[in-house]
Order: sequence, then C-alpha cells, then structure tokens
Amino acid sequence: MKASENKATLSFSNGGQNVELPIYKGTLGPDVIDIRKLYAQTGMFTYDPGFMSTASCESAITYIDGDKGELLYRGYPIEQLATNCDFLETCHLLLYGELPDQGKKTSFTKLVTNHTMVNEQMQFFLRGFRRDAHPMAIMTGLVGALSAFYHDSTDINNPKHREIAAIRLIAKMPTLVAMAYKYTVGQPYMYPKNDLSYAGNFLHMMFATPCEEYKVSPVLERALDRIFILHADHEQNASTSTVRLCGSSGTNPFAAIAAGVACLWGPAHGGANEAALNMLYDIQKAGGVDKIGEFIKQVKDKNSNVKLMGFGHRVYKNYDPRAKLMQETCKEVLGELGLENDPLFKLAMALEKIALEDEYFVSRKLYPNVDFYSGIVQRAIGIPVPLFTAVFALARTVGWIAQLNEMIGDPDYKIGRPRQLFEGSVKRDVKPIAQR
Ligand code: CMC
Repeated sequence: MKASENKATLSFSNGGQNVELPIYKGTLGPDVIDIRKLYAQTGMFTYDPGFMSTASCESAITYIDGDKGELLYRGYPIEQLATNCDFLETCHLLLYGELPDQGKKTSFTKLVTNHTMVNEQMQFFLRGFRRDAHPMAIMTGLVGALSAFYHDSTDINNPKHREIAAIRLIAKMPTLVAMAYKYTVGQPYMYPKNDLSYAGNFLHMMFATPCEEYKVSPVLERALDRIFILHADHEQNASTSTVRLCGSSGTNPFAAIAAGVACLWGPAHGGANEAALNMLYDIQKAGGVDKIGEFIKQVKDKNSNVKLMGFGHRVYKNYDPRAKLMQETCKEVLGELGLENDPLFKLAMALEKIALEDEYFVSRKLYPNVDFYSGIVQRAIGIPVPLFTAVFALARTVGWIAQLNEMIGDPDYKIGRPRQLFEGSVKRDVKPIAQR
C-alpha cells in the first residue's frame, strides 16, 4: 500500500477536533482514505450500507473501470484473454499472478486433471436430494460437503493445504455440476475423461451417456470455455466478498466457497442469467417483440418491482465488456447450430436496442451485463435454465479461491466484522408474562 502525500481532514460542525486521515494510492483506480483508526480517534463509525464507497480489502487480482467498461485480470484485458487464452491458462493467471508458459501450462493442466474425480461416496450424499431440487441448492450442499471428504486440505493456515484445496475445487466443480444435472434427469453419472479439455470434459460429463459415443463439438467447447473465462473473477462482488468474510473466520476453503455459491444464487447476482432467460420466455409467451413496449413500461414503473434482468451493474456504468464478448459467442454458437433465426436471440437484440435508446436506461447508465446473453448461449448448448447459475459458480470458483488465498496470505488480515448504527429499543426490563 503506497501512502499518498495528501491527507484527508475530517472536521465536525460542533467544534470537535479535526482528524487527519491517511490516503493510499493503488496502481489503478480511486485513492482510498484509511479510516481504520477513526473509531479510536472519534468514537464514531462510518456508515456505508451496500459498500457504495468502501474498499473492503487490498487486492492485486482483478480491476474494473466501470466508466470505461474495462475489465483486467492481473492487468490483462478480458478481450485479450478471451481471444488468446483458454480457461486453465486464465486460472493459472488468477491463482499465481502470471500466464503460464507451455511447460507450466502442461503441468498445471495435468495437476487439475488429476483431481477431476470426486470421492465415490459423494453420489450417496447426492441421493438425499429430491430429484426436482434446484441445482444451486444441490451445489451449496455438495461444495460444503467436500470438506467432509478431503480432510487433508482444510487447514487454511497451511499454504500446501490452500494450494491443494484450490486445485481440488477447480477440478471437481465441473464434475459436481454435471452430477447435479444427471441426478435431476435420472441418467447415470459420467466419470471425467482426462484426455478432454476442461470445457470438453464438462460437456462430456453433462451430455454423454454410457450407451453411445459422445463427440465434443469444438465450437461449443470454445463457447463454454469463453463463458468460463468471462465469469472467472470480478473483484469484490457480493459472492467474492461473502467468501472473504466467511473465510476470515478461519473456516476451511470448501465451507467458504459453499458460502460463495449460496450468495451467487440470488437474482441480483449470478441468478440473473436464469432470470434473464425466463424474462425473455415470458415476453415471448406474451406476444414477443410487439410486447417489448409494454414490458419496458412495467420496468420503468417503480411500483411494479419488475427489472430488466441482465441490465445494470453496480460498477459498470458503460457496456459490460463481457456482454460484448458474450454477444459475439452467441452469434457463433447459434450459427454453428443453425439457429441464426432463434426467436429468443432476436427478442434479446430488439429488447437491448429499445432499452439502449430509452431515456430511463440512458440517464441511469444501465447497459447489458454478461448475463443478458450468457443464458441464450447456454440454452443453445443444451444446458437447462436452472443449471445456468451453477455453471457460473463453476467458473467463478477460481476467482473465489484466488481471492480467499490472497486474503489469508496477507499477514495483516483480520476477521471481518462490520459495525452498525443501532436503531432499536434502548435498554428496558423484562416484565413477568402476566404484565406484558
Ligand atoms: N432494470 C430496471 N431498472 C434498473 C435496473 C434494471 N435491471 N438496474 C438498475 N435499475 C435502476 C434502479 O431502479 C435505480 O433507479 P432509481 O435511481 O430511479 O431508483 C437505478 O437504476 C440505480 O440502480 P440501483 O439498484 O441503485 O443499482 P445497484 O448498483 O444497487 O444494483 C444491480 C445493481 C445489478 C443489482 C441492478 O442493476 C439489477 O438488479 N440488475 C438486474 C439484475 C442483474 O442483471 N444482475 C446481474 C449483474 S452482472 C452479473 C453479476 O456480477 O452477478
């Protein structure tokens, strides 16, 4: 952390003593005012629900410039990573800080591949779920349960344990997501096939059956790999902050990542891809493109509680760069599958065009985010809608674990413990029940 020569001075209108606060500069982005000693100096807390102005940690992993619509993993623009690298190279970059050379790529791929199977007991655990359980309910349980199977990688104070837990999580997530899917459709689980790529193996575990040979389509494999890259990390979003907060108590990495999965499920976060596709289905059922005007009217009505899912972002006040890449992939996949005239894609394009010209969206800087098109791509690949968020979780696992390990590796890390502005009752006495 580099201290700036500038300092911030906090003054009080009641004549209280001024407080000088240090300012730190990062390599990119806004400076931060260090308020850690504020309570000791003034007896006051800061108040920032939703972390609108609060940097919760120091990080060197991912940087977003929301105004420019720029996303960098370890300094590399997402567009370059999505077009020049594959997902496992991106994982290496996020975990260790650098893109691998050929030798390191080969050994990292081998390492991950060696851990793709899950303990055979896992399928009995899975059987406890109803067949119609939501895949994110299953994933929250399965990921948390990993800590019961891999006791030799649960000590977060041991760097070796942290490393092996990271590899296990990255390697096993596709297996678990595919198992959750196979369980809900009642098909036999397909074991990982380690001569396939990371994305190819996931497609195989999802769509192959023991009855016949399954051939991975290179276009779908590339599309899925791109989905994974685009979702791999996104700095201090809700689920990543959840993982950090959960991990700050010293819990094991599997438990912390399970907390991230649970947070991601919400429709304001990762659940938006499922919600966006369901929204498109609803508009289509109601009459398609002709009904967009009516739908947009509802979205603009504050009392309706209807949102244009896949639009808007806390940080991006410009087009989400991931949405642009996803739109490209969408066209490629639909072309490959002969679905160029897919009515949902056409509807999404029309909806996007109208929204981008509407004063409501323009004035609020609401642009499509990654989830606007990712659902259409996943649906075209054959992934069922309720599984979309689980695929997001699979891809985000590397980001979560990289951020968790960064935090634990920092000697200054402390348990996360926010304070509050208390608005409840002042102290009072309990009356005997007859007098209440
Ligand atoms: N549709 C309609 N109005 C919206 C939308 C939307 N999708 N998003 C924001 N607004 C309005 C909001 O009502 C508010 O209006 P006003 O100023 O009149 O009260 C204004 O825009 C600012 O919105 P906000 O809710 O204060 O912004 P936020 O930063 O708290 O919320 C968000 C960000 C992503 C939760 C929100 O934009 C949203 O709910 N979007 C839809 C869900 C979605 O697509 N989420 C995926 C995010 S990207 C993937 C990920 O990282 O998980």
